[in-house]
Amino acid sequence: MHVPTLISRKREGEELSSIEIKDLIDGYTRGEVPDYQMSAFAMAVFFRGMSPREIATLTHCMIESGDCFSYPVGHPPVVDKHSTGGIGDKVSLILAPLVACAGNWVPMVSGRGLGITGGTLDKLESIPGFKVNLSMPQALAQLAELGVVMMGQTERFCPADKKLYALRDVTGTVPSIAMITASIMSKKLAESLDRLVLDVKYGSGAFMQTHEDAQALADSMIAVGREMGVEVHAVLNPMSEPLGQAVGNALEIIESLDCLDGAGPADLRATVLDLAEKIAGCSRGDLERLLDDGSARRRFDAMVTAQGGNIADLPRLAEIHCAAVIRELTSTSSGVVSAVNAGLVGQAVLQLGAGRAKANAPVDFAVGMDRLVKCGETIAAGQVICRIHAQTEADYRMAAAMMEKAVEISRID
Ligand code: URA
Repeated sequence: MHVPTLISRKREGEELSSIEIKDLIDGYTRGEVPDYQMSAFAMAVFFRGMSPREIATLTHCMIESGDCFSYPVGHPPVVDKHSTGGIGDKVSLILAPLVACAGNWVPMVSGRGLGITGGTLDKLESIPGFKVNLSMPQALAQLAELGVVMMGQTERFCPADKKLYALRDVTGTVPSIAMITASIMSKKLAESLDRLVLDVKYGSGAFMQTHEDAQALADSMIAVGREMGVEVHAVLNPMSEPLGQAVGNALEIIESLDCLDGAGPADLRATVLDLAEKIAGCSRGDLERLLDDGSARRRFDAMVTAQGGNIADLPRLAEIHCAAVIRELTSTSSGVVSAVNAGLVGQAVLQLGAGRAKANAPVDFAVGMDRLVKCGETIAAGQVICRIHAQTEADYRMAAAMMEKAVEISRID
């Protein structure tokens, strides 16, 4: 394999053979293909795309770069959900324990923040002591006991995706149908699932900007999943405004706990239920009851304990992760909120420090926004648009200026 030639051929829009893709991915996983060449290849794929055959091959190579989950005979249905990434998207934190309460096993392997979107693992790590680095045997033991585990990729679980995901995050190559399909589907298929629901986002706060692109991504992922014999559902969800009212690592855990307690923002609860009912094997009414009677919350707490956290810290997260400047931003006009641009909110929260500018950099758990207004709300001058959690005055001013652009208020005549 001559890597510069492969990069040039992809740059010119040629279709690569399965052997070429396999050699490239194997070489990258072993550390023989350096990051700078893989970055160039990722940029070529970003601009030129891949054929369905290339995407399927890339997905298989990523699965084969590591180990797959294997379960004992007679195990319960194994199900999962994956989102293509959005702003304030904390659905996994609620859905995984909820669906486990309905008698399923949920081996949820999640990612870190990517681009402007937050990552489930970063959010979970804001719970002091919570371990996301579990071995496969530890994960299987927890599944047998609790029916749910939320963890990161081990060194042996789709290692090719683990490396490429971190590289794409910092090289402007995330929003590619080919690479998102292979990244998500390799991890989900290596979980050896029976059922999978995909939450495919589109809009300013998503990698896919239009419904049409989101549909193409959904079709691409469904094709790869069905080829492997998994029941795959896709739900397309707009990401023009953030989901819920909180964006930021610890702030999103706090909002998730509200939802797990049967409360929380209506749009968040509805999205959780819409997705959960595709895979849970029970009715929406049953799922609502499991949220409202505390079952899902108890399962979440049990998972926190099993993975090294202390549930006594959960009600104290806001004190544990307390930013230096916490201040409300108020509206200068009255009217109806006509837009809360999720892309700008995501940028603001990223720049506050909730995400990464370099691969493997630490994230700030405390920063972000809460009490965000929602589209359609009527608001008076002087009322709160959002509360910003920043580490410096300068950061606060930066985020406030971005939020003034993000939130549009239409006058009522
Ligand atoms: N989530 C993933 O796991 N991978 C992507 O590429 C995008 C979202």
